[in-house]
Amino acid sequence: MVEGKPVISRGLEGIYIGESAICKVDGTAGKLYYRGYPIEEIAEHSSFEEASYLVLYGRLPTAAELSAYDAALKESRALPKHVIDIIKNMSGKADTMDILRTALSAMSAEDKEVDDSSEAANLRKSARIISATASIVATIGRIMEKKRYVKPNAWLSHAGNLLYMLKGRKPTKEEAKLLDVMMVLHVEHSTNASTFSTMVTGATLSDIYSAIVAGIATLKGPLHGGADRASLRMMYTIGKPENTESYINDALAGKQRIMGFGHRVYKTYDPRAKVMHKYLEQLSSTGTDEVKNLIAIAFSAEKMMIEKLGESKGIWPNVDFFSGPIYVQIGVPIDLFTPVFAASRAPGWCAHMMEYWKDNRLMRPLEYYDGPIGLEYVPIESRK
Ligand code: ACO
Repeated sequence: MVEGKPVISRGLEGIYIGESAICKVDGTAGKLYYRGYPIEEIAEHSSFEEASYLVLYGRLPTAAELSAYDAALKESRALPKHVIDIIKNMSGKADTMDILRTALSAMSAEDKEVDDSSEAANLRKSARIISATASIVATIGRIMEKKRYVKPNAWLSHAGNLLYMLKGRKPTKEEAKLLDVMMVLHVEHSTNASTFSTMVTGATLSDIYSAIVAGIATLKGPLHGGADRASLRMMYTIGKPENTESYINDALAGKQRIMGFGHRVYKTYDPRAKVMHKYLEQLSSTGTDEVKNLIAIAFSAEKMMIEKLGESKGIWPNVDFFSGPIYVQIGVPIDLFTPVFAASRAPGWCAHMMEYWKDNRLMRPLEYYDGPIGLEYVPIESRK
């Protein structure tokens, strides 16, 4: 260490930025709790609507509370024309996450409460954001396939309606259930990169739309939410289960990262990936041939990676590794994986924002300056 140089925590690793009662991630035991409830229980028993209520309001809803929250979500499902036009204008030119970021940002133009920072208004805006995000994601997928915007269906669940607006037909019970579970598993995950981004923006007392848009921008990166697409692409490149061994060996020998493995906090199996594994085991007999092949590749890559890097380096499958085959089974196109992740995470982002605003403090870390000092200004005509 250079004398006088502070200890630098690269990537803010190991730094606590505050206290929270929303979510506990136990990276050593491989446990995750939403408001104290184990993720396995929530994934088994809750819908996306209930899980998102839980993280936003801090407790499980009564039947009447859930029904009122569900009605608020349903009320905001339809997209305004200017937002549909933005999606159309960007479609085919921009990444789907860029379209989502822009379209959600444009939703604030329609929200009369955008600058009302009371908690009641923020809860109402959260429901609108959660609802609109799902509709925007479905519409991005729809327009990407050169099809028309589908009006929402008020009889369907949040996940069911997302699939309906995407495909233009009612999803089967199995499809809606699989998407619902996937969304529940992605509702919240403490101060990861995108949630932290959301909080940095909100801590300036900017509005909740701006904060969530910052979260979406951050989630896009392949080291974060973007790993779900990269991981399915890898499975397609591998092609057949018997190619997995040579692919992984070559990739690791070439110092490549295998997308969908490793995590800053989990140094063991990600509990969300474990829940997905259970569903993949079922799909390995009931899924389409394409999905069965992808699952066989995923399971052999999982086995190899755990043998090679599990105990030795703490690199295990994360939430992004198994998403691909599940989304393929229910007809969510690869370019929508990370947008669906964003739509699922919107409740977590909103909950963190509202919790942080209760005791807000501007985020302003330091950096150690390591450049020259006191240089003499050289006029432009004298520079070489
Ligand atoms: N494949 C191969 N090796 C890996 C992987 C991987 N996926 N991840 C980490 N490593 C290795 C690194 O090369 C490094 O090895 P070294 O010590 O020999 O140099 C060691 O493990 C530690 O890696 P770091 O980058 O320091 O670990 P960090 O905690 O910063 O990484 C991260 C976390 C960024 C998620 C990393 O594991 C990674 O790049 N994974 C692939 C991308 C991915 O799946 N991201 C999704 C994460 S979940 C989410 O965001 C929703």
